[in-house]
Amino acid sequence: MTEETLIHPPEGAAADWTVPQNWAHYTPEDHAVWDTLFARQAKLLPGRASDAYLRGLDVLRLSKPGIPDFEELSDRLMALTGWQVVAVPGLVPDDVFFEHMANRRFVAGNFIRRRDQLDYLQEPDVFHDVFGHVPMLADPAFADYLVAYGQGGLRANGMHALKYLARLYWYTVEFGLVAEPEGLRIYGAGIVSSFAESRFALEDASPNRIGFDLERVMRTEYRIDDFQQNYFVIPSFDALLRVTVETDFAPLYDAIRGQADIAVGEIVAGDAVLTLGTQEYARGKVPG
Ligand code: PHE
Ligand code: FE
Repeated sequence: MTEETLIHPPEGAAADWTVPQNWAHYTPEDHAVWDTLFARQAKLLPGRASDAYLRGLDVLRLSKPGIPDFEELSDRLMALTGWQVVAVPGLVPDDVFFEHMANRRFVAGNFIRRRDQLDYLQEPDVFHDVFGHVPMLADPAFADYLVAYGQGGLRANGMHALKYLARLYWYTVEFGLVAEPEGLRIYGAGIVSSFAESRFALEDASPNRIGFDLERVMRTEYRIDDFQQNYFVIPSFDALLRVTVETDFAPLYDAIRGQADIAVGEIVAGDAVLTLGTQEYARGKVPG
């Protein structure tokens, strides 16, 4: 038995780790924080976020203002792509996360940050999870990509390859860029839900912007504490779906295991470099 199977859900959570969202328990201040964040991002994103994301944003405009009620949100999403949003108390074990995803259930934290934390938060809250992720779930290709990712996660878990698959999630679902006819656009939830990174990812001279390559991405380390030093650019969501679904990852994992990881900010032979970053921002952060 692995260690994970011994972890059980906290008090008050169901066997699948879900909890009631308890929408009626949010305070007026909670809703006001959501509305502040929403208004600020919604103003910033036209011309920066992908077309799919901007179209999906309408799904969040529900009958009541403030934090979306997951039931109403799920009804909307269900009609579009068959997805639902379910509440969890916080981070859940990998297999639980993948199992929900493979069954078109997106797990979202139900708490919201405080007003003094508008710009940065360690743990994903309902603003990150819902504003960041849910609009993309309204896009049919991306919605199918996440289902396949959930299935791939269950498989990778059994092959001890989650480290590599997690990098794919990081550089697409969380921090992905897409090349659109009018230019580069952001779609990763970690970017679109961040006031500062929404501009940094597209407009700053520091980071590298590199054409997406599956093996390259799965070999690349990432940073969880600050702006990314590389962003990977997909040609379209259909292309991302196709390459990930049509590739058997098992031989890829084996190939990667024998190779060195690629450090953040590093450029390697074969990279399709769209922007060679100055890395000035990251350098400024190094002590001394
Ligand atoms: N094709 C992948 C595999 O063989 C599964 C997968 C699909 C992973 C889509 C991520 C995204 O494991
Ligand atoms: Fe996220």
